[in-house]
Amino acid sequence: MDNNDPRKAVIVVALVAVVCSSLVSAAVVLLRPMHLNNQLLERSRNIMQLTGLIEPGQTREDANMLALFKNLDVRMVDIDNGAFDESIDPNTFDQRRAAGDPRFGVAVPADQDLAKLGTRSRFAPVYLVWDGSELRRIILPIRGAGMWSMLYGYLALEADMNTVAAASFYEQTETPGLGDQITRSDWLAKWRGRKVFDDLGDPVFAVGPGRIAPDSPAALHRVDALTGATITGDAVTSLLHYWLGPHGFQPLLNQLREQPPTQAATVTTGNS
Ligand SMILES: Cc1cc2nc3c(=O)[nH]c(=O)nc-3n(C[C@H](O)[C@H](O)[C@H](O)COP(=O)(O)O)c2cc1C
Repeated sequence: MDNNDPRKAVIVVALVAVVCSSLVSAAVVLLRPMHLNNQLLERSRNIMQLTGLIEPGQTREDANMLALFKNLDVRMVDIDNGAFDESIDPNTFDQRRAAGDPRFGVAVPADQDLAKLGTRSRFAPVYLVWDGSELRRIILPIRGAGMWSMLYGYLALEADMNTVAAASFYEQTETPGLGDQITRSDWLAKWRGRKVFDDLGDPVFAVGPGRIAPDSPAALHRVDALTGATITGDAVTSLLHYWLGPHGFQPLLNQLREQPPTQAATVTTGNS
């Protein structure tokens, strides 16, 4: 074919396109296991920080972190009735995708949708942390709309199902220096020891208003507001009220308070 033949240019362009798209597809397929492994590692880091089994901020080798994480007692909860459900594998269940899946998604009634979710998954993985045969903590996944973005985090409660042991926000895109202060470890450390429920069992934990004097009665249930981030702080309050309320984990927490769980036979614990 003559070099000046326009068909030659079309064929060359088509060949280059096919080769490039094949390379991209192959890279996606080949890198997927690595991507999934990184996701698992990231999740294990986030959750292990809340267990109390490793020192705050302490890093571990990847393999060690994964081993500790895989040893946690993770259970699927049917949020609607607060019962554990063993028919679903918590290690493969995708809670985010489930929220939009007709088989697993539940519409959140507008008058209860404090976290502005629209729908949520009926099932969620929760992590039980044991100290010998004693339950030490429970770690709950939480999320809700902030000023600009969905805020994803975890809340760890002591075995009384009321006292905050730790909290984290591991994914959000609020404004740097303003809303993203919710990820500050010094601020999150102040949550520790706060009670999330009042004497009537209603969720009352709140961010602000203003600075909360540590020895004031308000400090029982409240943490300092974040300067320049009242909107995101209020969103954190609202999402916690949702997840600790009757449409969230309240049925589970009530049940566990009345009937403490027993350790799964396969789980071992330790501070290794
Ligand atoms: C560009 C821009 C981005 C902002 N991002 C946030 C944010 O991510 N979270 C937030 O709570 N407030 C944000 N604000 C500030 C809010 O509009 C509001 O002023 C603030 O939440 C009030 O907090 P304060 O009562 O501590 O002043 C932003 C403001 C501007 C102009």
